[in-house]
Amino acid sequence: MQKETGMQDDLINFKKFYNEAVQKVPTDSFYRQSVDHKYRHSIDVLHFGKEVLQKTPELAGKTPEFRKVAQQALLFHDVGRFEELVRLYEVEKNNGDLVAASKAQNHGIIGYDLLKDDERYNDMRILFAVRWHGQMPAEICGSEMYQAAQKLPQFTEITEVLRLVRDADKLANLHTIKEQDRLRKDIFYLHLSPEALNAPISEDVKAQFFAGQVVLTATLHSFADRIMQVISWIYDYNYTETKNIFKKHQFADYLLQNLAQYHHNADDIAKIRAEIAQKMQ
Ligand SMILES: [Fe+2]
Repeated sequence: MQKETGMQDDLINFKKFYNEAVQKVPTDSFYRQSVDHKYRHSIDVLHFGKEVLQKTPELAGKTPEFRKVAQQALLFHDVGRFEELVRLYEVEKNNGDLVAASKAQNHGIIGYDLLKDDERYNDMRILFAVRWHGQMPAEICGSEMYQAAQKLPQFTEITEVLRLVRDADKLANLHTIKEQDRLRKDIFYLHLSPEALNAPISEDVKAQFFAGQVVLTATLHSFADRIMQVISWIYDYNYTETKNIFKKHQFADYLLQNLAQYHHNADDIAKIRAEIAQKMQ
């Protein structure tokens, strides 16, 4: 059995990517705050992922080598965000179209490209999670990389790591959404018109939610829609321990309280609450 090495070297390597971005964006800017946030988020994802790893029966019996790789994937999953933020800062500096540029970026691809030639992290269990953690499951399964991965002996572990990263990513996001009011600090909120800020849930978004679907970003209109999108992550939790952590932190109550400030239909709120309770069993 291989010895389980600590994460010290990985943390140092990860911080190099963070430091590079810090050098390239102004202090006190939105970009610097976002770079800092992404660094802390990555540490949070590692933390939540380790908790799921330890307490999930089907993962607890894995080898130390698997745990090491899984933890590396957790820490590095958003490594492409640093470069993405630097690129967006450059666009803004040159008076470019920031909304178009942010849609054109894919931090999964940037991260994959950064790590694939690095022998320390050139492992498909890490690379696949970095590349695909932010995409919809249907898109992942339809990709050429997924077809190729299916032929690898590591395929089961590739999907286990991907599901772990997806779960931990959502838990870490929920944690900062609740503790730091993060939904009101992201680009979507900052660009909302006063009408869209105060509008109720859109019909299309409600339909997606009650059809059991994760709400698509392209369909978001109001801030209530954005909250619904976060709630709709209930359809994409993979491990029972993730649901336990979700319940322990009372994320549902926080999200529903916020939603009720914008969507004044108590019946709808009650139905959404019931749907969450049912999925989190
Ligand atoms: Fe993330």
